[in-house]
Amino acid sequence: MSNTRANRRYRSQEWFDNPNNPGMTALYLERYQNQAFTQGELQAEKPIIGIAQTGSDLVPCNKIHVFLMDRIKAGIRDAGGIPMEFPVHPIQETGKRPTAALDRNLQYLSLVEVLHGYPIDGVVLTTGCDKTTPAMLMGAATVDLPAIALNGGPMLDGWWQGKRAGSGTIIWESRRLMAEGKIGYEEFMARACASSPSLGHCNTMGTASTMNALAEALGMTLPGAAAIPAPFRERMEMAYLTGRRIVEMVEADLKPSDILTRAAFLNAIKVNTAIGGSTNAPPHLAAIARHAGVDLDVTDWQVHGLDLPLLVNMQPAGEYLGESFFRAGGVPAVMGELLAAGHLDGSVMTASGKPLADALGAARSVDPDVIRPVERPMREKAGFAVLTGNLFDSALMKTSVISADFRARFLKDGVFEGRAVVFEGPEDYHDRINDPALGIDETTILFIRGVGCVGYPGSAEVVNMQPPDHLVRAGIRHLPTVGDGRQSGTSESPSILNASPEAVVGGGLALLQTGDRVRLDLNAGRLDAVVSPEDWQARRDAWQPPQIVHQTPWQEIYRTHVGQLARGGCLELATAYQRIAKDLPRD
Ligand code: FES
Ligand code: MG
Repeated sequence: MSNTRANRRYRSQEWFDNPNNPGMTALYLERYQNQAFTQGELQAEKPIIGIAQTGSDLVPCNKIHVFLMDRIKAGIRDAGGIPMEFPVHPIQETGKRPTAALDRNLQYLSLVEVLHGYPIDGVVLTTGCDKTTPAMLMGAATVDLPAIALNGGPMLDGWWQGKRAGSGTIIWESRRLMAEGKIGYEEFMARACASSPSLGHCNTMGTASTMNALAEALGMTLPGAAAIPAPFRERMEMAYLTGRRIVEMVEADLKPSDILTRAAFLNAIKVNTAIGGSTNAPPHLAAIARHAGVDLDVTDWQVHGLDLPLLVNMQPAGEYLGESFFRAGGVPAVMGELLAAGHLDGSVMTASGKPLADALGAARSVDPDVIRPVERPMREKAGFAVLTGNLFDSALMKTSVISADFRARFLKDGVFEGRAVVFEGPEDYHDRINDPALGIDETTILFIRGVGCVGYPGSAEVVNMQPPDHLVRAGIRHLPTVGDGRQSGTSESPSILNASPEAVVGGGLALLQTGDRVRLDLNAGRLDAVVSPEDWQARRDAWQPPQIVHQTPWQEIYRTHVGQLARGGCLELATAYQRIAKDLPRD
């Protein structure tokens, strides 16, 4: 702990104890002390700890934080800090139209503005639902005040007729069963609700569990925080310890810039492979890295993540859900296995104040069926491949989910050629997927475009398109799918997604036509429309950007400034603002 209370002045004292400007100081002081605090507390060199509250009635995935708040505040007070809870713009993955992804950058902006403009010395970031975690980390990276993340934890395991029913995953399964005529609307709803038995975020290794695991892998939480189920006693304890710890971090001036290094991001990429993490992780991690001023490229996912093994046996890639993952040791166990195999950099600093290797200690899997050892993984080479070609500069593919059956039938030495069928967004897909005129068979590649950051707007999770009902009934559960949007982290579809640049800004996908031959070459890492360069150029010359209709002011602001998924889908102008806490706002 480098700084002690005796020798440092807190940022909040610029508000509450500034004899150079008595007029403003009086205004700050009288209004804050009238609610719950004494003048002495505010001025007597206690740090003010903000608690960014992402939970609310509108955000059930994070609502557990409403109940954890007492414990967080108790921890802060016991360590000598003053807690001040504040709300940020809500994001609920399953509630916000057109997509919660549109709001990630808005929540980020709202956090940045609060942290910069109020008397705050450090912050607890409450996280959980998919986009809340990256938004909080992006904001903390931009401002660079001492910050620690605390997620709400996954829901308890869901069960349906004696089998584990995982968030999201059961929806995809039920959609298929409905297409096969095996269940109706009522059973569909009952199955879905059975997967959601308590407060907490998704209990599968979807985007929420992934991003919270990666927050821990980055070193931005206390060890073991990510996997504790929301209603467990240990979650309360972690809330208290996190409150205590942020005060110590303020005393030590331990900031995101000390933790969010390139080495930490590479660790996170490796952990993502080992947990079977979501394909939403690359854009979110890219966004956090850019706001932290760290150089991270989409190709880092292939270079550092592709060849690692999948260790965690959790839906959608495996069998179990959050409770089992927690009992098997959670993220520290996964990182302990990877570290022991020489895959991680154990020297990086963490929010615990210790280097990663020390923070992990002897953590290892205590249930090798749920968290496998590196020598006996669920799958080898389980990371993301980064493809290129004439349809996009980059797109991601989770090659590990290509079934053995598909490989045997269609992939000849890693090459597949098929016929393209192109949909203009999810409405078009739903309207036409069962249209016999499209001639969709098992050698078709389904494309969807207009669903990227600018197009949708926000980038929609729609690339995991289900084949037409007649193919599903014939047992064909997946066709290769390609798109400039994303796919749900709870889906296990062999999609090529996050294609950048997206179609509406003139990416190659815009030029594709139904009926084109398309060639996937996994050895070369390419996906190309088999169209002559002359024809391709002629199509480009004839292309007109589609007219874009905004429905809200934010949609227009977002579309004007957002970048592409490969670069994190950030507000590009915001990435120029780095470590801004040191520049005090005007009085
Ligand atoms: Fe919120 Fe999955 S929908 S965590
Ligand atoms: Mg989602």
